[in-house]
Amino acid sequence: MKSDIKFDVQSSRDYSIYIDELKELSFSRKVAIITNPKVAGFHLQTLLQGLKVDALFIITVPDGESYKNQQTLDLILENLFNHQFNRNDTLIAFGGGVIGDMTGFAASIYQRGINFIQIPTTLLSQVDASVGGKTGINNKFGKNLIGAFHQPQAVYIETQFLETLPSREFGAGVAEIVKMAVTFDADFFSWLEEADLKSRKDLQVAIRKSVETKAYVVSQDEKEKGLRAVLNYGHTFAHVIENLTGYKRYLHGEAVAIGICMANDLSVKLGLLTKSEAGRIKALLERYGLPTTYKIDDIEDFYQHFFLDKKTDNAKIKFILASTLGGNVIKDDITKEDVITVLDGYCTCNSINSLYFTLPRTSQLHLTNLSI
Ligand SMILES: NC(=O)c1ccc[n+]([C@@H]2O[C@H](COP(=O)([O-])OP(=O)(O)OC[C@H]3O[C@@H](n4cnc5c(N)ncnc54)[C@H](O)[C@@H]3O)[C@@H](O)[C@H]2O)c1
Repeated sequence: MKSDIKFDVQSSRDYSIYIDELKELSFSRKVAIITNPKVAGFHLQTLLQGLKVDALFIITVPDGESYKNQQTLDLILENLFNHQFNRNDTLIAFGGGVIGDMTGFAASIYQRGINFIQIPTTLLSQVDASVGGKTGINNKFGKNLIGAFHQPQAVYIETQFLETLPSREFGAGVAEIVKMAVTFDADFFSWLEEADLKSRKDLQVAIRKSVETKAYVVSQDEKEKGLRAVLNYGHTFAHVIENLTGYKRYLHGEAVAIGICMANDLSVKLGLLTKSEAGRIKALLERYGLPTTYKIDDIEDFYQHFFLDKKTDNAKIKFILASTLGGNVIKDDITKEDVITVLDGYCTCNSINSLYFTLPRTSQLHLTNLSI
């Protein structure tokens, strides 16, 4: 399938995204592949078969989000210095979003910027993380708090690498595909309802549509001053859920699936989406084994967690909502009452709703004071 998607990122350079076209890659200079033992074990041999390069270095870092940190970054940079990489050499990120983000960040700061190529191997990284140039690492204050915008030279998406991906990881990628369709492309959403993403042919189409959407959004707003924020649909709720569950119970995409359902409930409440449209989105997510519900123990605590999100600006919570299928709106003026009504639908506690609405309007409500 010919899928050379070119896009122009404002103030940065163009690059191409290829889907299932990686046959041979040639470099006349040094190349370092950054990967982890799991991905290397499954797929490095396949990648090496098509690689022609003067001098190749393989840097393997431990697997997992907990290693997306300064220490691992330092190890990568040290290796590059030891092997005397310079600005004309290239890094290849070969793995999921963790490897992609970390390699991209190393590339952005090594000698003030070196070329890098993305070869994403999870569905989430193929449809989302590898495109758009957001790079970074985590620290003790939170996720992706240290980073840079640094666009790759090219992105090579190979669906064959997904054959070894566990089904939960596959589902997590589907959540991001659904996100793109719901907020930008109603036809794509209707197509997804009929498609079977377990088939290679349909999967290629879904990846291409998602990547085109992401490329369009990034080309309009590389540094997330406006439109790019729409890609955080479902994420305002998801970040709270991930935080409250210690980043252990759900994969990111799974938390996003629940977050999408919560955001849709808010859209329905505000008259932006019909109940039937919200039901169709939920059904699509569930078809790929994604969770769509979550039990909230303490509504006020959940609400206060919105303010920990780095995207919460000036104490205003930003909600990205679907407004009809294929449309989106960013709102930062939704009343606490409306949000609480939605959260109440997920609450394990009884009769908070009626108690809550007898209380006066106030910016600080402590539902924990209520004995239930
Ligand atoms: N830069 C962006 O725009 C952006 C967007 C979304 C997410 N992210 C980041 O991406 C990261 C999440 O990415 P992810 O979901 O790919 O997780 P991940 O990179 O941790 O990969 C998930 C797991 O799958 C394994 N894996 C990777 N490819 C595999 C394959 N082909 N077969 C079998 N196992 C494989 C990995 O080793 C890992 O254990 C987060 O750090 C998030 O912050 C970045």
